[in-house]
Amino acid sequence: MPTVLIIPERNEGQTPLFVAEQALKSRVIKGVCFVDGWSTDNTYIELARALPDLRLRYPNRRIELLQSYLRATGKGGAMVTGLEWALGAGYRRVLFLDGDIRSVTPQWCELLYEGLVKHGAAMARGYFDRSPLDAQITRHVTRPLMSIYFPEGRNIHQPLGGELAMTDELAHFLLHGQTIDPPHHWGIDTFLTVNAVVENFPIVEVYLTQKTHKPKSLTQLRQMLIECFDEMCRQIDLHGRLKAVPDVRALSVRVIKPENPPERIGEDVRTLQYVDVREQEERFFTFVKGLREPETRLKELDVSEELRKLVLSLFDPETFKERSPELHPETWVPLLDQLARGYIEQNYHVIYHDVIFACWQLRALAFAYHEAGSFEEAEEATERQAQYAYEYGERYRRTSAA
Ligand code: LAC
Repeated sequence: MPTVLIIPERNEGQTPLFVAEQALKSRVIKGVCFVDGWSTDNTYIELARALPDLRLRYPNRRIELLQSYLRATGKGGAMVTGLEWALGAGYRRVLFLDGDIRSVTPQWCELLYEGLVKHGAAMARGYFDRSPLDAQITRHVTRPLMSIYFPEGRNIHQPLGGELAMTDELAHFLLHGQTIDPPHHWGIDTFLTVNAVVENFPIVEVYLTQKTHKPKSLTQLRQMLIECFDEMCRQIDLHGRLKAVPDVRALSVRVIKPENPPERIGEDVRTLQYVDVREQEERFFTFVKGLREPETRLKELDVSEELRKLVLSLFDPETFKERSPELHPETWVPLLDQLARGYIEQNYHVIYHDVIFACWQLRALAFAYHEAGSFEEAEEATERQAQYAYEYGERYRRTSAA
């Protein structure tokens, strides 16, 4: 009952090969399949060139290179292509590692595999130490919305991570057992995690030390933010959670800290200067200057007057400094919730993307300045925000719907 590794990638040069080699050194990976998302540099050509040598060095493993079956598709498209291929080829377990990770060790694969085989999970997910300024979508969007609307999964640390393993049964369910197909964009991880949680598949989350990849600024994360936010809203809607959230007390995710965690590869992300916050702030104000009718949009999204006033005051560089400490979990969680509900009510209309992107940047900046002085402080603040979101979500929970 072999296990295959899928590496989705686009324009990542040699790094996917490094990821594959680390995995092939583990005892558990019997095949590797790169899925190229139609790279626009030499990545695909270079991978194709490297394949014969890789096959020679690992003669008993199956090594393949595919392209996403749809062009102009995103990470989800590559993952779905890989999953379909793996199920068709008869693999019983499918692992994923993102093609841009530089800190992979063979032990990552072994621990994810053990999550399925030893701990009996249908999905095993990695979680990692991360820079206080990394994971701003996870911290401020996905975790709080999970805590409000999918409280059974509220203890999951990193619902968006692309380092995971799943059984063929779960893979089949996620691909074909749903009312809608998985999204082909950055929303894929939200889709996979939320649906595994809702359907009560056993999930473990395994600590894998740290993940080092290319840092991305808030500006570069725009598309990812919108797609992750959009997908979470759709899942909330699809699962009927806008009307009522079941009052599930039990947690569906088991968190595992290995006795001997993988070694820390590369610079310690806990103290890494990930991005320049001042520069992010400057870019934010340039962006905000071009925002069209933010006040009208916030009203249409049904944001309360008090929060609207706070947001508009933070759009002004003069008052930002003084008032940014006011955008803390107790104001952010209701704002995020109102944005999400308003966006669903407005049928996911694209005109709201800019204002959603702006509000998220505000939260990320306020967090960077006031709550993320150190790794420990940032992690604690993230947990507190998720916990606050769970308490806030009480208003929607119904025992009868459970
Ligand atoms: C996160 C990355 C994807 O928020 O930005 O997890």
